[in-house]
Amino acid sequence: MRHLLRNAVGAALCTLGLSLSAQAQTAPPAGRLLASNCFQCHGTNGKGPGFDNIAGKSATEIYNKLKEFQSGKEGSGIMAKHAMGYTDAQMLSLSSWLSTQR
Ligand code: HEC
Repeated sequence: MRHLLRNAVGAALCTLGLSLSAQAQTAPPAGRLLASNCFQCHGTNGKGPGFDNIAGKSATEIYNKLKEFQSGKEGSGIMAKHAMGYTDAQMLSLSSWLSTQR
């Protein structure tokens, strides 16, 4: 009974591993989909036309900025409104992706 159970767990983990690697091949990099919400104003590489540059900033800088916008401490314009829609996890994820763009 015990080894049956162990086999079942092993099979489940194996399936999980397979589906994760299959997903990694087709899904866009983590954060990219969320970051596409920023492309319109900041450009696909963070050097958007006219708006503040995000390119060259670290993930922490971008995340902290978003937190400031979200808290209402920094400005009451477009970014403050935009930042309100994200959870912490989403902001961390999109910030780390954006920080890889040069
Ligand atoms: C509708 C246009 C628009 C969109 C969409 C937008 N931004 Fe912005 N962003 C701005 C504007 C305008 C500013 C500068 C004005 C201000 O400070 O409020 C700004 C400023 C910033 C800054 C501060 C840069 C600095 O040097 O201080 C960061 C960081 C930033 N945006 C990140 C993002 C991220 C990340 C997203 C996507 C989740 C995003 N923005 C989406 C218009 C936009």
